[in-house]
Amino acid sequence: MSTTGVPAFAPQWLALREGADARARATAPPALLRDHGRVVADLGCGTGAMGRWLGPRLPGPQRWILFDRDPTLLEVARKRVPAASVRTRRLDLAALRAPDLAGVTLVVASALLDLLTGAEAGVLAETVAAAGCPALFSLSVVGRVELSPGDPSDAAFAQAFDDHQRREGRLGPEAAAFTADAFEGLGRQVRSFPSPWRLGPGDAALTRAWLRGWVGAAVDQDPSLPHGAYLERRLAQCARGELEVTVHHTDLLVLPRSPEPV
Ligand SMILES: C[S@@+](CC[C@H](N)C(=O)[O-])C[C@H]1O[C@@H](n2cnc3c(N)ncnc32)[C@H](O)[C@@H]1O
Repeated sequence: MSTTGVPAFAPQWLALREGADARARATAPPALLRDHGRVVADLGCGTGAMGRWLGPRLPGPQRWILFDRDPTLLEVARKRVPAASVRTRRLDLAALRAPDLAGVTLVVASALLDLLTGAEAGVLAETVAAAGCPALFSLSVVGRVELSPGDPSDAAFAQAFDDHQRREGRLGPEAAAFTADAFEGLGRQVRSFPSPWRLGPGDAALTRAWLRGWVGAAVDQDPSLPHGAYLERRLAQCARGELEVTVHHTDLLVLPRSPEPV
């Protein structure tokens, strides 16, 4: 979920969403990963939110290798991931191959899969499976958004937003299911956990930014939508503390089968 009205993946947007992301992330995977987090590769690390959330939940000292194609985000992440050792790799993940993950004991990614095409996700699954370690793919949108109170236009905006996410072959709301199938086809065990954002009156700044982005993307996709009045109505409800939004996501835990069960 990257579309916010500010440039995609601006550090300000990533900071705004970090608290809601942290509340949303499924808590079972860190316990299931046990001591597999000695050398962690974070793919599409942004400013390092996954390291800040997951690092303290894994036992023992860790080395994190942060991958992103954005050098500005990588520089922020390098300073802000609390690990014994942090290294950054500027790389387009389309070019990620098994040697890039040599020595890695856990692969993680957060809010990434829905940005990938099916071909990219397929190659990523093969590369991660070849590394032979567990993987945790957090916070993939699944195309379900609930706004309360409801509005007759909600469904049309939601449909247009999902179609916008699928532009140029991206997986969008199908990302988690597609990637789970890809890993299962490679003989890996996959477990899914719900990880919804639940935004209420205490999240007004994030809700406003999310609303602007959600409506903006929907209107890019379908300019016939009655966006001005709808956005005004929703922002006014948000300002009065009357709006609640649930954005559903899935976290995927990928486990190698024997001989290395976790
Ligand atoms: C929505 S942000 C999530 C950032 C971070 N994982 C988090 O949870 O806050 C997606 C991140 O993936 C990176 N990204 C997206 N596609 C990429 C690609 N093909 N190669 C490398 N990085 C990519 C972006 O630069 C951005 O930092």
